[in-house]
Amino acid sequence: MDKFDLLNSKMRDCSLCPLSRSRTQVVPGIVSVVGDICFIGEAPGREEDLRGEPFVGRSGKLLDKMLREIGLERSQVSILNIVKCRPPENRDPTKDEIAVCSSYWLNPQLDGLHPKIVVTLGRVALNFFLPHARITKVAGIVQDYKEFPILPLFHPAYILRNMNLIETYQEHFGVLNQYLTSPPKGKGQLNLDDFF
Ligand code: URA
Repeated sequence: MDKFDLLNSKMRDCSLCPLSRSRTQVVPGIVSVVGDICFIGEAPGREEDLRGEPFVGRSGKLLDKMLREIGLERSQVSILNIVKCRPPENRDPTKDEIAVCSSYWLNPQLDGLHPKIVVTLGRVALNFFLPHARITKVAGIVQDYKEFPILPLFHPAYILRNMNLIETYQEHFGVLNQYLTSPPKGKGQLNLDDFF
């Protein structure tokens, strides 16, 4: 059992916050052993809660399509959420839920992964790392953060509701592609053999 399997098995028994009482199951996320890119969403939705996997509903289909457009498969990236259990009616997770869930589960995942770049999907994930950033201002612009750079992107569910933004979204994924192919010197050096 590797360190992530061990973490996942503890996570699956978690009862640290009220979301544990309404969930079908914990959605630990997918940790890729090849990639250095980590996507982070907000919380599992209905499909994810039923299947135990992140981003498998309509948002996930769009995420997969956007990844393929820049030559990446889902298996080459890590996909996590800020909180690991579905909030009832897909409401935003509360401050307390985020605080306890991230300190027990997300932070150890990130410590173990050492991502070269974190791509946040949506406002909740962005504001977890950068509480004062406005998604409409910073989407598609790589941000400096303590341990890794962050590329804030809109949440795919938001794009599905605002399909007029699909070209902007494609451009923002283009920023990720650009970052992977020529990261700034000394930062985010990726092993390109893992990807192409
Ligand atoms: N939305 C999220 O933020 N995460 C998922 O896993 C699915 C939908």
